[in-house]
Amino acid sequence: MAITIIYTLVLIFYFLPSHFDISYALTCTDHRFTSRRVYTSCKDLPHLSSQLHWTYNSTMGVAKIAYRARQVAGGWVAWAINPNQIGMVGSEALVAFVNSNGSVTVYPTMITSYSPSMLPADLSFQVLDLSAEFLSNQITIYATVGPFAGGSVVNQVWQAGNLVLDGVPQMHAVSQQNLQSTGELDFLSG
Ligand SMILES: *[C@@H]1O[C@H](CO)[C@@H](O)[C@H](O)[C@H]1NC(C)=O
Ligand SMILES: *[C@@H]1O[C@H](CO)[C@@H](O)[C@H](O)[C@H]1NC(C)=O
Repeated sequence: MAITIIYTLVLIFYFLPSHFDISYALTCTDHRFTSRRVYTSCKDLPHLSSQLHWTYNSTMGVAKIAYRARQVAGGWVAWAINPNQIGMVGSEALVAFVNSNGSVTVYPTMITSYSPSMLPADLSFQVLDLSAEFLSNQITIYATVGPFAGGSVVNQVWQAGNLVLDGVPQMHAVSQQNLQSTGELDFLSG
């Protein structure tokens, strides 16, 4: 069963990329938020058709972020910081998905293993003003996060999956894109 689901997700991912690439010809600097939000910096992330926008307050060590990722209704997206190491395990995530009634659920969750519960949990760092929206096949997560132990430099992880069951995001595909969606980010230099 689990293997069938994973296999199906992998297949779905292999058929989608060309479509994703076309719709992502625009870079993050071209994006205008409908909600009149403005960020000083942004980065086109190298995988999963995702972009991160942020404004970093170096006095407070706090980043106001908007994580945007292409997704269909029924799927989920997540953006995380791993305070301990590079990679998925140990990361502390903000996860969002679209409900069948069109509302968007967003909450923090701890990625404690390779098969985490994905249930809501408090993170080790502060999360304020958490919200999310679904617009033009994109889920956007808004939050103010930090401060972090490492200052402006963090290990970020981002992810997407195509299945949410009973309000719980299910395992993502294991394509190259899904496995390489991690890296260091310096909120000061981009
Ligand atoms: C950083 O946050 C502090 C406290 O909210 C504020 O007083 C300060 O103006 C902010 N700095 C910048 C550059 O926005
Ligand atoms: C939409 O569905 C979600 C998840 O089932 C639920 O929590 C929320 O209250 C619903 N919203 C409305 C407006 O019905």
